[in-house]
Amino acid sequence: MSHPKTPAHVAIIMDGNGRWAKKRLLPRAEGHRQGVEALNRIVGAAARLGIERLTVFAFSSENWARPAPEVAMLMKLFAQALHRWSEPLANAGVRLRVIGDRTAFSDSVKAAIEANERATANGTNMELVIAANYGGRWDVCQATQQVIDAGLDVTPENLSKYLTVSDVDLLIRTGGECRISNFLLWQSAYAEIYFTERLWPDFDAKDLEDALAWYVRRERRFGRTSEQVQNGADLSL
Ligand code: IPE
Ligand code: IPE
Ligand code: MG
Repeated sequence: MSHPKTPAHVAIIMDGNGRWAKKRLLPRAEGHRQGVEALNRIVGAAARLGIERLTVFAFSSENWARPAPEVAMLMKLFAQALHRWSEPLANAGVRLRVIGDRTAFSDSVKAAIEANERATANGTNMELVIAANYGGRWDVCQATQQVIDAGLDVTPENLSKYLTVSDVDLLIRTGGECRISNFLLWQSAYAEIYFTERLWPDFDAKDLEDALAWYVRRERRFGRTSEQVQNGADLSL
């Protein structure tokens, strides 16, 4: 059972893998490997807590600028996780979807994405959205282009229909940085934003519960006054 105020859509900027490894004198790759394990745990916890959609930032459009061996390692981990998680996600009723510009991926990564999306397509418990080669600016541009191609007016309502994912309720960033790094720019317009020092490989179910408890205490006003909210005003955007 989910709490009445459980955020329907939680998004996470999974940051701090490199620093986690450095602190332990390990290669950055080990931090990324542990980061994959952390995500595995958090997906289970999120589904148990009644979150409907979990969107995670796995690889930004800017991350291509990292050293080539690190990029190659991240791509390998991504494809491996997609293969490894296909069956457990399907069994748990979690539907996986990848957002971002896929054209840049190798054929094997593209195939791994498609195979996982196909295997998990019928899941109804939770949607896991993985942002890979994703950029918030790219998302707004591709949606705008689709609106134009459909002969529609460029309005917030029409744009929202063509964006890759819905508005975010709670945005979490681990690793201590207080920035958005070109993640869900449009969709975070009214998100509650939770920054934590915890490095992503250390983030666990208790940390997610802490973030949800913090979220429950927020008063979301969407431009209204506190009095209006308390009197039950319509909060639609
Ligand atoms: C996040 O961890 C993972 C990706 C960006 C792929 P980082 O690799 O950015 O870790 P730090 O910020 O260097 O600690
Ligand atoms: C954001 O983290 C991208 C992901 C978590 C995938 P970065 O580590 O790339 O962000 P910056 O460069 O510190 O802003
Ligand atoms: Mg980082």
